[in-house]
Amino acid sequence: MKRLLVTGGAGFIGSNFVRHLLASDPDILVVNLDALTYAGSPANLEDLPDPSRHVFVHGDITDRPLVDGLLRRHTIDTIVHLAAETHVDRSIVGPAEFVRTNIEGTFILLEVARKAWLEDKLLPVGEVRFHHVSTDEVYGALDPAEPAADEEHAYRPTSPYAASKAASDHLVRAYARTYGLPVTLSNCSNNYGPRQFPEKLIPLMILNALEGKPLPVYGDGRQIRDWVHVDDHCEGLRTILRRGRPGETYHVGGGVQVANLDLLHSLCGLLDLRRPSTRPYAELIAFVADRPGHDRRYALDIGKIERELDWQPRETLDTGLAKTVDWYFDHPAWIEAIRAQPGYRAWLERNYAARGSNG
Ligand code: NAD
Ligand code: TYD
Repeated sequence: MKRLLVTGGAGFIGSNFVRHLLASDPDILVVNLDALTYAGSPANLEDLPDPSRHVFVHGDITDRPLVDGLLRRHTIDTIVHLAAETHVDRSIVGPAEFVRTNIEGTFILLEVARKAWLEDKLLPVGEVRFHHVSTDEVYGALDPAEPAADEEHAYRPTSPYAASKAASDHLVRAYARTYGLPVTLSNCSNNYGPRQFPEKLIPLMILNALEGKPLPVYGDGRQIRDWVHVDDHCEGLRTILRRGRPGETYHVGGGVQVANLDLLHSLCGLLDLRRPSTRPYAELIAFVADRPGHDRRYALDIGKIERELDWQPRETLDTGLAKTVDWYFDHPAWIEAIRAQPGYRAWLERNYAARGSNG
């Protein structure tokens, strides 16, 4: 693992992953390709541990000549593919961009890798790896009594986001099987932590609470998610790159499943302790119209990566949430920059006004 191309490295998980790599592996170069959509920002890449080993490229993963040039110019031996459109609610309002980036973008990366690594033999095939980062959402909703999904679980995606990620997973496996491309895949549960764009549940709720705005809970709030701190995900990815077997899929998750409403009460409790207000933050909770097709329950079995690669999440939900709240408290300028994006305000109005909330 010497010369990596990380896609989507200016986004939430990508920027944490780039930091994690630079801090943990002194002998690697990271080429970071990111289109800087609303979800990506150069601010996420400020104060990197060793910026001299990081090359940022502003560009799109669907730009084949660009990606091809990067692979050859930097003799890339490892691609870690994180770039994606990622928000389920946006995929419901506008699925086209999800098909373009998540399906077509993955296809183009695979094609470039196949040509450079397998046809032109840029590097010995035993030295290259395409790692694809995916989600537990490809499995769709699990029944209440069903065991957590393992790596053999059937794909039943329900949202346009999940369907586009499922399609990309299938393409990656097809390139491994048909052409012999050395790939690994990981399906991860809901991440949280520093630099998560505040359209996702946890940062949205922290920001709303600090402004005294309603905390909009979709439906009855009893939907269950498995939460993993982003640092644990990053270490999981690094572990797979170092020790994962080519052709294999690994689940990365927090091993804890919580209903949204319970999570929100924990978060409000933390906020009450750390930034007391005149009234408990839980009084801001407001039930709003549900997400269409809202998956009731996700749960990932992480036994394989624990057994085979000796990886385990380190953060509990309590420790991880506390660190996350502190990070948002400590970075008001990061928050203000996002609040100043006209598109951000417009998204909140569009998504929440339609649900009968000004959240
Ligand atoms: P994010 O939305 O925070 O960031 C996505 C990044 O990709 C942004 O920096 C954006 O600019 C970039 N990007 C988007 N389209 C692009 C394009 N066409 N070309 C180049 N760059 C582009 O996403 P995230 O939450 O960091 O998720 C990263 C990956 O992890 C995604 O593949 C996602 O499916 C997966 N994942 C996320 C979670 C989660 O809870 N956030 C859970 C499991 C898996
Ligand atoms: P989200 O963070 O969008 O992640 P995902 O849909 O990928 O799981 O949402 C997490 C859960 O929180 C999901 O069940 C939807 C719910 N949710 C709300 O109840 N209110 C909100 O305002 C948001 C953004 C999400």
